[in-house]
Amino acid sequence: MRGLNRKVIRSENFAEDAAKFIVKIAQQSLAERGRFRIALSGGNTPRPIYSRLATENLPWDKTVFTFGDERCVPPDDEQSNYKMANETLFQPAHVPKSSILRMRGELEPQKSASEYEEQLTICGQQGNESIYRHDLILLGLGEDGHTASLFPATAALQEAKRMVVANFVPKLNSWRLTFTFPLINAARQVCFLAKANKNPELIEKVLVGDQKYPAARVKPMDGHLTWILGE
Ligand code: 6PG
Repeated sequence: MRGLNRKVIRSENFAEDAAKFIVKIAQQSLAERGRFRIALSGGNTPRPIYSRLATENLPWDKTVFTFGDERCVPPDDEQSNYKMANETLFQPAHVPKSSILRMRGELEPQKSASEYEEQLTICGQQGNESIYRHDLILLGLGEDGHTASLFPATAALQEAKRMVVANFVPKLNSWRLTFTFPLINAARQVCFLAKANKNPELIEKVLVGDQKYPAARVKPMDGHLTWILGE
């Protein structure tokens, strides 16, 4: 495994800098492979970034949007990560539905996770890949050091083979759908997007690799890890 290639960017123009970072990787991916595979993170932090990204003139028909995780709710539920991305990015940018792989949170969790994994497997096989490789996976950082829906002390942390699983989160008393570490760490680029002042101590602990925090276990095997911290 090559040494981890990691960069930390501290930004006074969070939405602008993050959007430009995404555009740069998109252009590189499109030039090299004729497509751009990006996984969106949920929560609130990415909202202004997605709104700014929507103003970019990228070939959305050559882009494949996936989701790093999803709540087990319908797509029109306030909790839905898809709903947030649809309002801030897909609708404003007129992203074609064919470019969006939505996790169907409205289905029974295991069924939805298997369905999504099957979709990624088929797309990966079309590219002769043993595992679906994202060009970029966006991730957030939760207060407890979770990322995607890989929460501390939950079963999904141990998943070493599957790409997408249903994960019961006791502290939320709810199921989530989430990428696993094997899928995340197969990406060419992973980028954490976080507000620097939200929990600076946690960010430092994750950056030094404290494995107590799931976010610290994100190590792209053959890729690059970037943190963009909004000051
Ligand atoms: C989710 C996210 C989750 C999120 C962090 C940070 O579905 O909630 O994927 O991992 O990125 O909890 O959330 P905020 O950006 O709202 O702080």
